[in-house]
Amino acid sequence: MNSSKSPVQSQPTIFFIFGGTGDLTSRKLVPALYNLFIDGWMPDKFAIIGLGRTQQSDEQFRNLLLDDINKFSRSGKADAQKWKTFAEYVYFQVSEITEDKTYIEQAQRIKKLEEEWKEEPCVIYYLAVAPRFFTPIAENLAKHKIAANPEKSRVVIEKPFGRDLASGKALNKLLNSIFSEKQIYRIDHYLGKETVQNILAFRFANSILEPLWNRNYIDHVQISVTEQLGVGDRGGYYDEAGALRDMVQNHILQLLCLVAMEPPVSFQADEVRNRKVDVLLAMRKFTAEDLQKNAVRGQYSKGWMEGKEVPGYREETGVNPESNTETFAAIKFFIDNWRWHGVPFYLRTGKRMPESSSMISIQFKDVPHMIFPTETIEGWQQNRLIISIQPEMSIRLQVQAKRPGLDMVLNPVDLIFDYSGTYKGETPEAYETLLLDTMLGDQTLFMRGDQVEAAWDLLMPILHTWAGKKSTSFPNYKADSWGPEVAEGLIAKDGFHWFTLPNKNKK
Ligand code: BG6
Repeated sequence: MNSSKSPVQSQPTIFFIFGGTGDLTSRKLVPALYNLFIDGWMPDKFAIIGLGRTQQSDEQFRNLLLDDINKFSRSGKADAQKWKTFAEYVYFQVSEITEDKTYIEQAQRIKKLEEEWKEEPCVIYYLAVAPRFFTPIAENLAKHKIAANPEKSRVVIEKPFGRDLASGKALNKLLNSIFSEKQIYRIDHYLGKETVQNILAFRFANSILEPLWNRNYIDHVQISVTEQLGVGDRGGYYDEAGALRDMVQNHILQLLCLVAMEPPVSFQADEVRNRKVDVLLAMRKFTAEDLQKNAVRGQYSKGWMEGKEVPGYREETGVNPESNTETFAAIKFFIDNWRWHGVPFYLRTGKRMPESSSMISIQFKDVPHMIFPTETIEGWQQNRLIISIQPEMSIRLQVQAKRPGLDMVLNPVDLIFDYSGTYKGETPEAYETLLLDTMLGDQTLFMRGDQVEAAWDLLMPILHTWAGKKSTSFPNYKADSWGPEVAEGLIAKDGFHWFTLPNKNKK
């Protein structure tokens, strides 16, 4: 997380993007690098080399990227002059991941640029490829000794980081045998989101919250990440993953850690990450009996979304027609430590839900004694703090207030900090933050190996049980619904309900 107020010039940098013609590169990585460039965050000397299997010239590659930027960049269509300058830093290398030639050419290019720049560059290898390629790439980088200097080379790895505890551990073991931990940047793009980074600022740069931030005042916490989209063209990947692996193991548990962590003593990467690991280690692991009561799964059937008919999960391309994969999960967790003992954390995520929204709702305990007569109360609501990550970027505190008038009537109102009303200008994309941090060598917003393993460890009983027992009720929720009924039951039996922000766009 860059802590300076103005653009910094980091060291000369080479980006090698494995998967240079893939979806992630075109939708996220290149638009992010371009925006960093036009906003003055790129170093004076840099090169971006996309690697791919289909022969093409630098010029052809650049033209493809220009189309992608025009389609996907948050700053809109590229300015002709700025693009022309940026394009000169971009190259294409035709390559096969498993061939020595690929890495020999990389070594030659590094040498050439180093001679030209008269300075040893920092080399970043971005693995925007399917997980089965992580091992051959890492082994080849080691074999050709082109990531040997821990100060000057980094590898960036996308999720999924393993598919269970054993494979996550094996991948860590392999990477740690080749690179030092400070070279490994495991991306969880949620951590780069502006509103997610702000959880740290909100909690630890304000003194009024800390006295309330514990089991004495907090009743329960909800973390909900819902999406309108189905699995689209990612059915093949998703059917092997499911909601637990795709969203809970990484994004949602990271949000939970930020809400639940103890105050770090400094803003150092490892200090922050230590406190997050502490949370994962304190979370209660499920026994078979707990699991029945505290975790529910769902799978969507076909339905109508915004006037269009959408297929059920089992009808999606690449999905097994009898699939047992969950597209929805809701889980009630507990954190067994002094701060959180007895406070339920309800997590929920699902595809094909009525709204796309990521939010955290922290509900405080009720007043200890009610002095107002029942007839003065209109829609009583315990105080609630709502951190809305997307699409609305806001923090709201719900309090009771007196409605103006001659009679005493209480109703809930929101004290709102809304990004769009408070700040002007565009918010950087998560990948801009994370790519800049990679260049600067700041790992605060990246997953450390032990964090990944602790998250897998926590989920193993659920993964194991769900894989071993085919759901007899799947599909059990309709597209455009809030998930299976049992998900309501999970929270309703404790006297709560899933909170959603009123959608301004819905009539
Ligand atoms: C990805 C998941 O990591 O996050 C996707 O693989 C999911 O399935 C996506 O749709 C959600 O990210 P965002 O930024 O759109 O909330």
